Amino acid sequence: MRRPLIAGNWKMNKKVGEAIELVAALKRELYDERAAEIVVCPPFTALSPIGEILEGSTIRLGAQDLFWEAEGAYTGEISAAMLRDVGCVFVIIGHSERRRLFGETSETVSRKIAAALSAGLTPIVCVGEALEKREHGVTDEVLRKQMEGAFASCGEGDFLKCAVAYEPVWAIGTGHTATPEQAAAAHTTIRLWARERYQKEAAEKLRILYGGSVTPHNIKELMAREEIDGALVGGASLDADAFCRIVKYNR
Ligand code: PGA
Repeated sequence: MRRPLIAGNWKMNKKVGEAIELVAALKRELYDERAAEIVVCPPFTALSPIGEILEGSTIRLGAQDLFWEAEGAYTGEISAAMLRDVGCVFVIIGHSERRRLFGETSETVSRKIAAALSAGLTPIVCVGEALEKREHGVTDEVLRKQMEGAFASCGEGDFLKCAVAYEPVWAIGTGHTATPEQAAAAHTTIRLWARERYQKEAAEKLRILYGGSVTPHNIKELMAREEIDGALVGGASLDADAFCRIVKYNR
């Protein structure tokens, strides 16, 4: 059985004070939540204080990005060791907003995965097709290519430490959630790819999250699909009540 993983991607939202307020509410509401593994990914500026607040709690800390070099003259960048230092355990890599707006490629995604793993961070690697690719019927090819590129130099032992998030670009922040069937089909493609590339066991253990307009209203039917192992939640993770309802989807 794969333990569900529910991660909140706060994107470029919440100043430190607001972030502390949100995470304090989550800590109160979710202190006894064991069924799902819970992760929050605040912006860089809030990681350190939130890391302190979350010490000893069941909610884990994640970052939204990292740079692959260990240290040095890389103005504006943050290393994996810096993320570990403030309490991060997870890191989102290759989000479509980073691919689209900041020129991330399979090559950079793959280097970031390697850097995260060598520092002991769990990468949540994002893949997903744009609307026009889906309309052209090439979703599977896009996903396979993104997986191939991201994990090009990742051995099986390391692959076992990663999670993947399927995030169709057309569903992110649009209110147009993929149907559970669409999401399940994409997850199957990703798992089949993993089975061809690695051993069956590694493919079976991989947690594949769905992301794209997840809300308290649609989480239950998404999670009802056995192909879907969790969610990467953007907009709805900014509200304590909505995120808690998502985490407690089964109650
Ligand atoms: P959304 O974002 O839930 O606001 O659609 C999801 C994501 O981009 O991770």
